[in-house]
Amino acid sequence: MPLRFPLTATDTPSTPEKIAGIHADPGFGVYFTDHMAVATWRKDGGWSDDAVVPYGPFQLDPSTAVLHYAQEVFEGLKAYRHADGSIWLFRPERNAERLNASARRLMLPELPVDDFLTSIEELVTVDAAWVPDAHGGEASLYLRPFMFANESFLGVRAAHQVTYSVIASPVGPYFAGGVKPVNIWVTDAYSRAGKGGTGAAKCGGNYASSLIAQYEGAEHGCSQVLFADAGTGVNTEELGGMNIMVVTAGGELITPALTGTILEGVTRDSILTMAGELGLTPVARPVTLAEIFERIDSGDIVEAFACGTAAVLTPVAEFRSHQGNHVIGDEPGPRTMQIRSAILDVQYGRADDVHGWLRRV
Ligand code: COI
Repeated sequence: MPLRFPLTATDTPSTPEKIAGIHADPGFGVYFTDHMAVATWRKDGGWSDDAVVPYGPFQLDPSTAVLHYAQEVFEGLKAYRHADGSIWLFRPERNAERLNASARRLMLPELPVDDFLTSIEELVTVDAAWVPDAHGGEASLYLRPFMFANESFLGVRAAHQVTYSVIASPVGPYFAGGVKPVNIWVTDAYSRAGKGGTGAAKCGGNYASSLIAQYEGAEHGCSQVLFADAGTGVNTEELGGMNIMVVTAGGELITPALTGTILEGVTRDSILTMAGELGLTPVARPVTLAEIFERIDSGDIVEAFACGTAAVLTPVAEFRSHQGNHVIGDEPGPRTMQIRSAILDVQYGRADDVHGWLRRV
């Protein structure tokens, strides 16, 4: 039976004035809409109890498995308001599939793609007033689907009861400076993911383990951290919360190939698909840190950017490490801004959706 996520709430939603105040300065992930979608999975009965309910705390027993063993996965996608007022999602099926890939790795149940889409669409419909206008920039409603082991039990095994939920947060740019280029710390002290680990899954533990490196970077004036592969420390992998790409003087757009330890970003995939249309040659291959730094220093890599749903494309000013700094520049590069505009134009309905990536709510 497909899930329907019916609205069960009879609460009083936020006033237009309150929402307008939040939309004026939303930050990222600070404010949440009036409702959330929920569903429960039980080992003996599958998915049920699907609903859209007022946003509010979960009541968790102190022995709830996720609090101890971090059996949890999540997603990130956005709802965009077009100029005519309509609301659209960008490739949400990809998020549904990735949630299931992550769930398989963490021994959580899969949620049928259609149920995932229904949960998002019902929540966004109920809280439509919270989807901001683009405001000439990149304001959107960030959607955070997640799933966690919600069983009171301290044995180490896959939970027999799991909660799925979607919450929504009106957001502006992920980085406080917007498109101002950021500095990236290249850590040699920490790894993000090893062979056979959870690097390709979007699970909270990956982000928890990246925090210490992120803070190491912050001490060196950096707002993201770049990890090398855990095995050799030679190959470029990804940033703490997003993928990395570089642009060469010859027009190649290079990003590390998916190795099983890198998150398969939807934005990453979209950029690689669009690159050819923008006159760039997309290249996904193993790429060493040494190659990137040597080519920056010789002027052959001319731009670099972080990419992800939250970050969109955020230019990189400089890579910093204990071995030295590799400077690209304080101004966003033209290729970075061209790709950034191209993807935002599709998301906000300002360009033709030639790939069929948009889905109307
Ligand atoms: C996203 O880009 O949606 C993420 O989940 C990354 C996180 C840093 C917000």
